[in-house]
Amino acid sequence: MKPILQLQQLRKNRNSLESGPLFANVSADIAEPAIIALLGVSGQGKSTLLRMLAALDNIYEGDVRLHNVSQRETDPRSWRMKVCYVAQQSVMLHGSIEQNLKTVSQLHRIPYDVKLVQHLLPRLGLDHLDMGKNADQLSGGEKQRVSLLRSLLLHPEVLLLDEITASLDRGSKEMVEQVLEEWHHQEGTTMIWVTHDIVQARQMSKTVWFMGEGTLLENSATASFFEQPATELARNYIQAPVQKEQT
Ligand SMILES: Nc1ncnc2c1ncn2[C@@H]1O[C@H](COP(=O)(O)OP(=O)(O)OP(=O)(O)O)[C@@H](O)[C@H]1O
Ligand SMILES: [Mg+2]
Repeated sequence: MKPILQLQQLRKNRNSLESGPLFANVSADIAEPAIIALLGVSGQGKSTLLRMLAALDNIYEGDVRLHNVSQRETDPRSWRMKVCYVAQQSVMLHGSIEQNLKTVSQLHRIPYDVKLVQHLLPRLGLDHLDMGKNADQLSGGEKQRVSLLRSLLLHPEVLLLDEITASLDRGSKEMVEQVLEEWHHQEGTTMIWVTHDIVQARQMSKTVWFMGEGTLLENSATASFFEQPATELARNYIQAPVQKEQT
């Protein structure tokens, strides 16, 4: 079977070359639909990598292939329909919540699936919202969930999730996790999920990609990553939040 997504020798330089690349030699294949947790300390380039995968940043070396088709040979708009990035800090378009949801469908020339919206709004804890409300006025956590819903409407093949539950209360976080788990099973969507929430990574993912020392340092099954990380860096990363919780 051909891999779904291939990361081939990706390298991103920093703005100043003096201190070496932000990351290099980042290679990985996703052979079958999976939820992958992308972990690593702050500043390693996780968001930068997701933006590259989503064709939102084309200044890099190497290549990304979706079903063996190069990102470089694909129109960015059609790529972004299939590989969708949900940002760490979501940006709403001007206008109402409904306009925000509709615009994405219009942009990509697909029908607006109002039934899906009505199905997902309560399941994401957003049914209290007036759809005519100005999207700029939403809270950070509401914006993140509207932004997730906006991406789900495209039924992407790959969903890139950047700390999308970071500003949510526990109940809302669990709702999002459940929606995404079911979506993954029903639609077969591959998800690359950046999170600093170790419990979430452990529960939700099948595979862990750990970034460190300017590269993809570990690529392992989730259970073996947490039970037996191959590097000292990963060991420290896993232990740090636990120590924090205990103090
Ligand atoms: N387009 C870019 N070109 C070069 N460097 C960038 C670019 N965007 C961000 N950076 C720098 O790359 C570094 C990594 O940023 P990035 O946001 O990808 O880290 P991160 O791993 O997502 O961190 P966090 O866990 O805090 O979100 C930062 O020092 C940032 O300033
Ligand atoms: Mg980030």
